[in-house]
Amino acid sequence: MILKEKDKVLVGKFLKKIPAFGNLSNKRVEQIINDFTICTFHAGETVFYQTDKSSDMYIILEGKVKVTLLSEEGDEFVLTDLNQGDFFGEMSLIDGNPRSASVIAEEDSTFAVLERNRFLDAIKEDPEIAIDLLKSLVQRLRNATEREESLAFLAVHQRLVKLFIKLIKDEGKKTKNGFYLIKRRTHKEIAERIGASRESISKVVKKLVSGNLIIENGDLFLLSPGLFEDIDELTD
Ligand code: CMP
Repeated sequence: MILKEKDKVLVGKFLKKIPAFGNLSNKRVEQIINDFTICTFHAGETVFYQTDKSSDMYIILEGKVKVTLLSEEGDEFVLTDLNQGDFFGEMSLIDGNPRSASVIAEEDSTFAVLERNRFLDAIKEDPEIAIDLLKSLVQRLRNATEREESLAFLAVHQRLVKLFIKLIKDEGKKTKNGFYLIKRRTHKEIAERIGASRESISKVVKKLVSGNLIIENGDLFLLSPGLFEDIDELTD
C-alpha cells in the first residue's frame, strides 16, 4: 500500500524521534517510510494478544495503548502505558517468537506498522538501527528490573508513591500551594499498574485521603507534597 502524503509526513516525524531510526539520514528515512502501512484501532480494542504469532512493529502516531498481561481469571497486570511516538512489537519482530504481552488501545489510536522482513532488511542496510534498538531494549529491561525491585521490596504504600512520582513526571502540573495535579485513576487502574489488589489500593488511598495527602477532585488527583517527603526526585 502506498502511503498518502499526509501519512508520510506523520510517519517521518515520529520515525526521527525513535532511537532506532533517529540517527538515519533524511534520505534513508524517506525510503523506509514507504515500507510502513497505517492502521487504526478504537479505544478498548486489542491490537494483538499475548502469544499471537504476528511479528510486525508498531509506532503510535496518535493515541495511547497499554501493554498488559491477562490471567485466565481476567486479572490484569499493566507492564507499561505507551503514548504518541512510542513503539511496540519489537520483541517478536526481533526473535520471531509469539507476542510477549497483549496490547490494548486506551484511546482511539493510529499506528504506523512495519513488517518483520522489511525491518530486517533495514537493519542489514543500516546496522546502526540495531545498536539503537538495543539501547531502547536495555532501557525497557532497566525499567522492568526497577519494577521487580519495587514488587520484591516495597509495600503497597511505597509502590503507590512511586507510581505517583512517575505520573507527575509524565503529566503532572504543580499548583501554587505546592500540590501536584494528575489525572484521576480508578483504584482498579492503579492496582493493575503496581501489582496490588484493588482492595489494598482502596484501603491505602482511603487512608491518604483522610490524611489530606490525596484530594480527589472531579477528574483530578491533587497530591500533597507531604506524600513525597524525603524523596529527592521531585525537588525542582
Ligand atoms: P512483542 O513481544 O512483539 O509484543 C508485545 C510487546 O509489548 C513487546 O513486543 C514489547 O514491545 C512490549 N513489551 C513487552 N514487555 C514489556 C515491558 N516489560 N516493558 C515495556 N514494553 C514491553
